[in-house]
Amino acid sequence: MVTIAVTTEPDNEPRVAVSPDTVKKLVAARCKVRIEAGAGARSRISDDAYAAQGAEIAPTAADALKGADILLRVRRPSKEDVAALAPGAVVAAMLDPFSDRADLEALAATKATLFSMEYMPRTTRAQSMDVLSSQANLAGYKAVVDAASEFGAAVPMMMTPAGTVPAAKAFIMGVGVAGLQAIATARRLGAIVTATDVRPATKEQVQSLGAKFVAVEDEEFKQAQTAGGYAKEMSAEYKAKQAELVANHIKAQDIIITTALIPGRPAPTLITADMVRSMKPGAVIIDLAAERGGNCEMTKPGETIVTENGVRIVGRLNYAGTVPVNASSLYARNLLSFISLMIDQKEGKLAINWDDDIIQGTLVAKEGALVHPNLTKSAA
Ligand code: NAI
Repeated sequence: MVTIAVTTEPDNEPRVAVSPDTVKKLVAARCKVRIEAGAGARSRISDDAYAAQGAEIAPTAADALKGADILLRVRRPSKEDVAALAPGAVVAAMLDPFSDRADLEALAATKATLFSMEYMPRTTRAQSMDVLSSQANLAGYKAVVDAASEFGAAVPMMMTPAGTVPAAKAFIMGVGVAGLQAIATARRLGAIVTATDVRPATKEQVQSLGAKFVAVEDEEFKQAQTAGGYAKEMSAEYKAKQAELVANHIKAQDIIITTALIPGRPAPTLITADMVRSMKPGAVIIDLAAERGGNCEMTKPGETIVTENGVRIVGRLNYAGTVPVNASSLYARNLLSFISLMIDQKEGKLAINWDDDIIQGTLVAKEGALVHPNLTKSAA
């Protein structure tokens, strides 16, 4: 029988890696699921709710981990925790593989098989396992709700006997998964929504959500998407032209949500300090890229600041974690789909197909060494 361990996450991480729904399915697949007591509490999942679906509640992390075949986590576990698992056990988590290289190497040295969910290939087959999408979608929603709350004026237009309340103007920068949900949410709240991105495919998506697309659409823009669907780093010339267009647009905006990322790089700067100074008092910027340095030059990751001209810049981290109930439930489903690939139900043991593109894409370490090309390249 395959034993799956789940432990409590650090203080700054309210999410949890399994839900009652996924426990039920894992138990039905003849796995034993051992969950540290209280692990789901911050996602409003009680030990009883897990136990009712067949999980075993372990009094301590050590009890949950001891000899387990699989460890499911949100964040990177400690090497001590991984060392407590069965030899060659599987760990699936958002390992944040580019940070703290020495610690990642120490994890690999335990000889566990490490999978990083952030590396999930963007294929149709892997869609149900795509943690970046499931979490970014919630982040995009919550960013707009927070922006509306911070704004201190109404978002929708209201015509009342006492006069008309104008609609707020919202500008979404970066139209990936988070940006699309931000557009949809801002539209639902009644904002006048515009959006920008460097990938040409986004123009139609923006328009289909009832928002206006704002970008320099030159030859470079037409080529700006990689085969994987991600943005490329743009040339200095393009950035300057786009910055000029954006600078004029930003002056009139009430709410700006920035979500722009380029895989493996710091977040691109889209809003300079001068642009912030041109904005209206009371305007709000929510910088969803804060974790990777921020899209706004003035963002302070982890803080909300108010500038001299009265603009609020929110650099809150772990946005998906601010809706932990839904974030955990979707993340748990992503993990369930993923680990189902490597469980042989009939034999009741781990069976990993090393040729599977999903396994290959997410595999970070095996038999004591880091193996992912993104990590071995940077070591060279
Ligand atoms: P992301 O989180 O890497 O980046 C967010 C957005 O920022 C992207 O749209 C990107 O083009 C944009 N951006 C980067 N630099 C910019 C700049 N200088 N100015 C303005 N915008 C900039 O992207 P995310 O959300 O992960 O999605 C990337 C693509 O992958 C999307 O097309 C999405 O629909 C696609 N996708 C496909 C999946 C599948 O087929 N299974 C699953 C999820 C996403």
